[in-house]
Amino acid sequence: MPGAQDTVQRLAARYRAFADNEAKDSSALYEAFARAIAGSEAVLSFVATLPAARQQPNLLLAAVRHLYGVARDADHLIDIIRANPAPIRALMLARTTQTNEPARCAVLLPVLARLPQPLALLEVGASAGLCLLPDRYAYDYGGGTRLGPRPPGDLPLPAFPCAITGAVPVPTELPTIAWRRGLDLNPIDVRSAEDTAWLQALIWPDQEDRAGRLQAALAIARRAPPVVVRGDLLADIEEIMAQAPADATLVVFHTAVLAYVTPADRSRFAGIMHRSGATWISNEAPGILPSIAQHAPAPPARGRFLLAVDAQPVAWTGPHGQSIDWFGP
Ligand SMILES: C[S@@+](CC[C@H](N)C(=O)[O-])C[C@H]1O[C@@H](n2cnc3c(N)ncnc32)[C@H](O)[C@@H]1O
Repeated sequence: MPGAQDTVQRLAARYRAFADNEAKDSSALYEAFARAIAGSEAVLSFVATLPAARQQPNLLLAAVRHLYGVARDADHLIDIIRANPAPIRALMLARTTQTNEPARCAVLLPVLARLPQPLALLEVGASAGLCLLPDRYAYDYGGGTRLGPRPPGDLPLPAFPCAITGAVPVPTELPTIAWRRGLDLNPIDVRSAEDTAWLQALIWPDQEDRAGRLQAALAIARRAPPVVVRGDLLADIEEIMAQAPADATLVVFHTAVLAYVTPADRSRFAGIMHRSGATWISNEAPGILPSIAQHAPAPPARGRFLLAVDAQPVAWTGPHGQSIDWFGP
């Protein structure tokens, strides 16, 4: 068992690593906040009282934002946490980091659109299910390549910008989706104000474009909410796959999910996918499925996700769906 001081030092390193590797270049505010937490023994001692799975920087920062709004500066943040440990702790125990980023549809679309249509879409780790609606949003792949539902409908469409390099098979039409299901340990309800406020709190404060597009996607989802079943990706996936209509191409996909399970469970899940007969699309950090990543070229930059179809890597993608660097066939 590590001593209390070891834990505080380990947490300081973790929050510094978050500042260096995740927040730097994305959010000046969260970079400063994470560095301030890494330097505050009082806040680190508070975080150390939480279970290991609830000590993440993203969870703490989202909890503070959800309860008290965005702190003015790093000193203000530290003051808020020191003054309010009980409510922050309660929220960090009640919630998890379930960021639902509909912009990730932009990186799935080139793969989805070239499969035999119609599709039966099953998303593992779906959160609120916003990535189950790729046919209801608009996309801008640059160079005048735009795509969206026709007719566009009466709600404002989020238009996801996605910068592309390589021979991306940019679709000219949106996929036809005959059936969709999500699976999640803890489904988020798009009609619940409390749930969707938590999704908003998970978006970093200097990324207001993402926040606006999330609101637009939620409004679209509320019209006809995707069904997200409560369950576990190993225990329940086969039962849900069996419910898909036989006359559609079954696609099982996941983005930013397998990091939440152990490496042994990731391998078990990959085994289920190999045996399933479904098309399997994974969009995860490369360290999550190393047996796939070993067949990919070097990424163009740090922090990219690896997009793979049936365990064959095809592209590096921006972790929030903001880019595709295609190297596959
Ligand atoms: C970071 S969110 C990603 C949500 C969505 N895939 C996206 O890209 O916007 C990860 C989701 O995986 C879910 N999750 C984690 N472990 C799971 C498991 N064992 N079975 C099912 N869902 C799980 C979490 O509840 C959470 O909603």
